[in-house]
Amino acid sequence: MGLFHCPMGAAFYEDDDCIDCGMCYAKTRDEMIEASKKIRAYLKSHAPKNSIIRKIAVCGKGGVGKSTIVILLANVLKEAGYSVLIFDTDESNPGLYRMLGFDKQPRALMTVLRRLPSGKKEVTAKWLTPDQITVADIPSGYMLGGDGFKFLMVGKIEDPFQGCACSMANIAGDLVGKLALQDREIVVIDIEAGIESFGRGVERNVDTVLIVVEPSFESMALAEKIAYMAEGMGISRVRAILNKVPSDKVRQRMAEELDKKGVKTLGTIYFDPELSEASFEGTTPVNSRAAEEMKAIAELLLDESK
Ligand SMILES: Nc1ncnc2c1ncn2[C@@H]1O[C@H](COP(=O)(O)OP(=O)(O)OP(=O)(O)O)[C@@H](O)[C@H]1O
Ligand code: SF4
Ligand SMILES: [Mg+2]
Repeated sequence: MGLFHCPMGAAFYEDDDCIDCGMCYAKTRDEMIEASKKIRAYLKSHAPKNSIIRKIAVCGKGGVGKSTIVILLANVLKEAGYSVLIFDTDESNPGLYRMLGFDKQPRALMTVLRRLPSGKKEVTAKWLTPDQITVADIPSGYMLGGDGFKFLMVGKIEDPFQGCACSMANIAGDLVGKLALQDREIVVIDIEAGIESFGRGVERNVDTVLIVVEPSFESMALAEKIAYMAEGMGISRVRAILNKVPSDKVRQRMAEELDKKGVKTLGTIYFDPELSEASFEGTTPVNSRAAEEMKAIAELLLDESK
């Protein structure tokens, strides 16, 4: 497990993964910016070209519809014959397992961490130590299965003294990196709101970032930041999904504004009252109009990777 603040996943300075970016010993803001530039340049130059889609991170501002999109997308991929692993890496919101129709949560991945007397945390699970892990290697207690999905969660912060979310993000990123997916296996990751997790590298190991954007200034501004950071991390497929869109006029304006910000739009999900109503029950209807719209979006996405 790398240092929390090392975006390259190095365990210590001058470790094999260290590129001497200077981030961990930067003392001023300018030095941090310089270090960020070095990381961006390195990751960009080492980015895999035209990778097929295997690991998708769904990001965006709080409440824009990330979890909803994860469920709709996972369902369409399942219908298209993919075996879908949904990974909940959001440490705050409890509801994704319920939205997927499970009546209990799996054992949280964070339970493999043990706090040492020094305050550091170590990974206690042997199955997490190999360089590559297949979905079949994940013990059943940590993964729920049913109706074509598999579901895994990093865990939730339940009390104020439980500690830092960094080690949770770190272990989630580590697992995503090690996951060796077989043909027609896809992992769809529900990322916590905002951009904080980007600094911790959960997304470093994905090939696709989908930014969910709602019609608001903040959401669009954050989309630009996420795209900037994701591209800087070497992720070549970064696309926006417009969500909760009330009209064609708004859709067009959003797409134009995002285009000016350099963010490519993949598709649109209009405001669907059926989704809002179902959220009172903690569910997401997969036969809704939004689900139909997601089909078109997923087709475009899959076409890109052919
Ligand atoms: N296209 C849509 N039309 C109408 N309501 C929607 C749409 N998409 C999502 N919603 C509703 O918006 C609310 C927030 O959605 P969701 O929980 O998926 O957002 P989120 O980004 O995952 O939130 P958080 O940041 O808290 O994790 C839910 O009530 C959901 O039903
Ligand atoms: S110099 Fe950069 S790459 Fe090396 S350990 Fe520090 S943060 Fe990581
Ligand atoms: Mg959510």
